Amino acid sequence: MTEQAGAAPDRPFLYVVVCAAGVASGVGALVAAAQTRGWEVGVIATPVAMSGFFDTDDMRERTGRPVRSRWRTPDDPRPFPPPDAVAVAPATFNTLNKWAAGIADTLAVATLCEAYGLGVPVAALPCVADALAVHPAYRESLARLRAMGVRFGDPYSGMPGADGTRADFAWERVLDLLEPAGEPAA
Ligand SMILES: Cc1cc2nc3c(=O)[nH]c(=O)nc-3n(C[C@H](O)[C@H](O)[C@H](O)COP(=O)(O)O)c2cc1C
Repeated sequence: MTEQAGAAPDRPFLYVVVCAAGVASGVGALVAAAQTRGWEVGVIATPVAMSGFFDTDDMRERTGRPVRSRWRTPDDPRPFPPPDAVAVAPATFNTLNKWAAGIADTLAVATLCEAYGLGVPVAALPCVADALAVHPAYRESLARLRAMGVRFGDPYSGMPGADGTRADFAWERVLDLLEPAGEPAA
């Protein structure tokens, strides 16, 4: 199931998994920051995220690889080497719940499910509205994923605060969490 390429890259390979949240339009900042830190990057998006949530052409140009969303056919070459780490940003309510439950019905969620077995570091930046974040299933999903070793950034709702401004999405936090000293958020 893992997307692999024949030749090993010179640099460690980071999978950036993109879900269908409004902030996904800014994912180029994450890819650029990851490349600056020495990662080679491959982008895997959910099918919904592919439908206008971010600039897939820009991601292909930045990474030099196709944006993956669907499984390859058996005769296709494996376009990505195995991951050295996985960053999920933004992570939606839907994908986080499916990931925790092991419902691998998209390449993105299947990749996340498999990362646990590969033993590579995984970090996620949820982008979930407060009204969804209180759902008992979501709370249980986060607890389960934390127990699996997933490192989480601070909650982010995407909603404006009392002053009417919206906090920036902390894209680089997910890279910090993947550093050897990165610790799961409390
Ligand atoms: C403009 C727009 C913005 C959205 N933003 C979010 C969001 O921030 N967080 C979230 O969990 N879902 C958000 N959604 C809903 C998800 O897109 C929807 O639940 C989708 O099924 C998620 O699919 P995925 O998890 O496979 O990417 C948004 C939907 C739209 C149309």
